[in-house]
Amino acid sequence: MAKPITIEKAMQKGSGKVTIRGWARRERKSNAFAFIVLRDYTNDIQCVIEKGKVSEEVWKTAESVTIESSLIVEGDILKDERAPTGYELHVSAIKIVGLAERFPIAKDLSPEFLLDVRHLWMRSRKLVSAFKVRDTVLSAIRDFFHKDGYYEFSPPIFTPTACEGGATLFECKYFNEKAYLTQSWQLYGESAIFGMEKIFTISPCFRAEKAKTSRHLAEFWMAEVETAWQTFPELQEQAEGLVAYIVQQCVKKNEKELKELGQDVEKLKKITLPFPRITYTDALNLLKEKEGLDIPWGKDLRTIEEDMITKYFDRPVIVTNYPKEIMAFYKPADPKDPKTALCMDMLAPEGYGEIMGGSQRDTDIEAMKKALIDSGQKPADYEWYFDTRRFGSVPHCGFGLGVERVIAWICKLDNIKDAIPFPRTMLRKSP
Ligand code: 4AD
Ligand code: MG
Repeated sequence: MAKPITIEKAMQKGSGKVTIRGWARRERKSNAFAFIVLRDYTNDIQCVIEKGKVSEEVWKTAESVTIESSLIVEGDILKDERAPTGYELHVSAIKIVGLAERFPIAKDLSPEFLLDVRHLWMRSRKLVSAFKVRDTVLSAIRDFFHKDGYYEFSPPIFTPTACEGGATLFECKYFNEKAYLTQSWQLYGESAIFGMEKIFTISPCFRAEKAKTSRHLAEFWMAEVETAWQTFPELQEQAEGLVAYIVQQCVKKNEKELKELGQDVEKLKKITLPFPRITYTDALNLLKEKEGLDIPWGKDLRTIEEDMITKYFDRPVIVTNYPKEIMAFYKPADPKDPKTALCMDMLAPEGYGEIMGGSQRDTDIEAMKKALIDSGQKPADYEWYFDTRRFGSVPHCGFGLGVERVIAWICKLDNIKDAIPFPRTMLRKSP
């Protein structure tokens, strides 16, 4: 047989003899015909084997093909409107490379079962589509920052302290001491801007979230950025610019995958700049006026409240100025409204929740020490971080974008777990 080409290339060729390879997604046999839907990483194609037209050996081989067997097939490709992907391959030769045992994913498609056999479910149209979008999201992030003169920076994963408070810290044995898996690169990113000024990372982050929601992972990826001299309004502009760029790139490169996932591409095309901006106080007023919900000022917004807010916007909304007291220690008070912090969250439409958190960074060591003590942490653990403020401190800002939350939103997934290949949650760490 000739050297195989991809199914997509074979379809582009459109006629004549081609050799392709892949896996049998489906197979069906009758007395006179065998049909095999072959898939590779580019597409699917229906292969037809007609008993009367092939040798006895080819027919026997075709008959023995099981679901998920790997194959090389040769034949004539023809345009055929009735075929599932518009083309059919009339097979003249077939070789089984790896005959599959009975594939366990047949009828039982319960989410838990599919997670148990995640290593096999990886081959599904749904996951392959989501992971192709994931690739676009990751490369769009790099592209966006590189175009703006940023450097990619590599933070550590083992850390001696919390960044986002002690409640969700993953503790681990570190030789004869304790260490924690990173919750965010931020404190390291901040120290690096004093040399490199404009940096970003895409790094795994860990949170011991006791939440069994469709939005929380114990291990997730965060795209974080930190910029010297940046002002808070500039941070918001950069944040919306990044998210709009990611969506545009997915629309451009992944139309097929998005359709496969049931996403309305036209709707995504409308995610244009600028994004609406409201304050936390505006959000409370909106909840009161439109939803009849009376939330006392100072209480953090819960998921259901965030979902109610996003109902009123057709694109992500930036919520700024949350109450200073409930924010992480590094978020400074807004001089114009000191009860609030110079911070923001970005909430995605349609109930996908908080996709980003960011802020200006406090430069007042004493204020940060007080905030740490108030939240039950030890300022002494953060002495190295305070050094960054002792030697030529500058105003600076940064944010962190939850990569899987963005993918879940763009792909219209009903659970964040399908945005990452092997999800880790409170209830699952295998396979
Ligand atoms: O809002 P968070 O906690 O912010 C920080 O960690 C900052 N230090 C980031 C920074 O300014 N550099 O987390 C940032 C984003 C959230 O908005 C959310 O999208 C995502 O990370 N995230 C999670 N995604 C999945 N599972 C979890 N358990 C997540 N926790 C946070
Ligand atoms: Mg947050």
